[in-house]
Amino acid sequence: MKILTAVGQVPSQPNSKRRVLVPTMGALHTAHGELIRVARVHAGKDGEVSVSIFVNPLQFEPGSDYERYPRPEKADEDFCRNAGVDLLFRPTPAELYVEDRSTFVDETSLSTVLEGKSRPGHFRGVCTVVAKLFNILVPDAAVFGEKDFQQLAIIRRMVRDLNFKIDIIAVPTVRQEDGLACSSRNQYLNGKERKQATVLRKALLKAAEIARGGETSAARIVSVVRETIGQAPLARIDYVDLVDAKNLQPLDVLRPNSLLALAVFFGKTRLIDNILLS
Ligand code: PAF
Repeated sequence: MKILTAVGQVPSQPNSKRRVLVPTMGALHTAHGELIRVARVHAGKDGEVSVSIFVNPLQFEPGSDYERYPRPEKADEDFCRNAGVDLLFRPTPAELYVEDRSTFVDETSLSTVLEGKSRPGHFRGVCTVVAKLFNILVPDAAVFGEKDFQQLAIIRRMVRDLNFKIDIIAVPTVRQEDGLACSSRNQYLNGKERKQATVLRKALLKAAEIARGGETSAARIVSVVRETIGQAPLARIDYVDLVDAKNLQPLDVLRPNSLLALAVFFGKTRLIDNILLS
């Protein structure tokens, strides 16, 4: 596995292999393993699978967990090697962001709701870094997880609007046995919080169940989800919203291709999850 830490080390003449990129912030776990596996399928055995690891300061709001975000360099490197990654790109913040930078990528519609509302500036940071990674590594395709459904939608929009010639590949959310979505932030949870965090999946499944049973009122679906989460005393809801899965606009009535998305704090740890309902 080749490891590059500087933009200047990336060959300027890309080879003719099919290149598939998995952008990450490191602290790699089972779900990243699945993204890498899917990347390999799309690259083919002769293609090149790259992983970028960069804890992107631009997408963390002031006062959030940028400083304490896990950075297990050696374990991540071993993870990539064992997963059959061909190229690991691991730049420093100084390498990606010059001090007097003044250009950003801003998606201005899908970013205004859900995570974008709770975390102003977050998607500007995500789009800017992903566009930079696309320009530096010039992949043919890039892989993203559906746990970050809004991020995936925004990246697809950015790729369309800015004419990147890159296929965006979505991978279903990978869950632990008890249903909790895999996330690098799960490791912040203490024992009690971890146990209670299973309520998120339970609440989403409950919503799916009542939707299947004929419930179409967004208010009632959201209220059932809130009540279910409320049974976990350590949970503090940030938002529970039913939106159109295409344009992410809020819905009053369930319709085909609706997305139920939530963000919930357990202590200082903020977890997100979602489910598609129709
Ligand atoms: O999903 C993530 O890990 C990050 O938001 C990404 C896409 C790597 C950009 O920093």
